[in-house]
Amino acid sequence: MVHFSDIKGFAFDLDGVITDTARFHEQAWHRTADQVGTKWDQALASSLRGISRMDSLEMILKAGHHENDYSEQEKEALADEKNHYYQQLIKKLTPNDILPGMKSFLDELKDNDYLMSVASASKNAPTILQGLGINDYFIGVVDPASLHAGKPDPEIFVKAGQLLGLQAGQIIGLEDAAAGIRSIKGAGQTALGIGPAAKTADPDLYFNDTSEVSLANIRDDLTKIEG
Ligand code: BG6
Ligand code: MG
Repeated sequence: MVHFSDIKGFAFDLDGVITDTARFHEQAWHRTADQVGTKWDQALASSLRGISRMDSLEMILKAGHHENDYSEQEKEALADEKNHYYQQLIKKLTPNDILPGMKSFLDELKDNDYLMSVASASKNAPTILQGLGINDYFIGVVDPASLHAGKPDPEIFVKAGQLLGLQAGQIIGLEDAAAGIRSIKGAGQTALGIGPAAKTADPDLYFNDTSEVSLANIRDDLTKIEG
């Protein structure tokens, strides 16, 4: 079991952990679902969290039994259209859109010399970090275009760990999505889940929302697990 003193770095999911872009993804995918004739509901919306753009589209098509109705080219066009709409929505992001408690958590980590990287499936992550004004906190951002497989495959958190230059046992990965928790655990890192979707994948540490995430709470919870 990992000890708090072993931890030297943190790998962050972005959407739903640092900022609530999940609502913008939902808004944009809802529009796509209406377009292709798939009924939109909260279960479908939740299942898309953390899933790459093309995989999300496939899931939306499948949910409405439309998976064979579109050519690859038409799918690319649907995904592009969703992305352009989404990019209009994230243009408005400012430092005020950082989720409660996360700015002070990032400051706390920086002040205590922890290393930080970003493990987001989003190709828009650099734009989002810039809008939020927090680029400088991170030693690196995994390029999702470089991945062979998205979350829940461990690859993205393995790469986020390589950016930190640390061993898996020295890293806590933060996620709001079940697919992301599976990815962190597969990478051998300590999984910190935030919110109900993450809870379903049985994270090592769990917080109801971002305002509860702090070094003191993480230390307390890890100490409890150690027993
Ligand atoms: C993840 C989101 O962070 O990024 C998913 O949770 C999204 O909802 C995925 O589909 C890909 O994002 P983008 O910006 O590359 O379309
Ligand atoms: Mg997320």
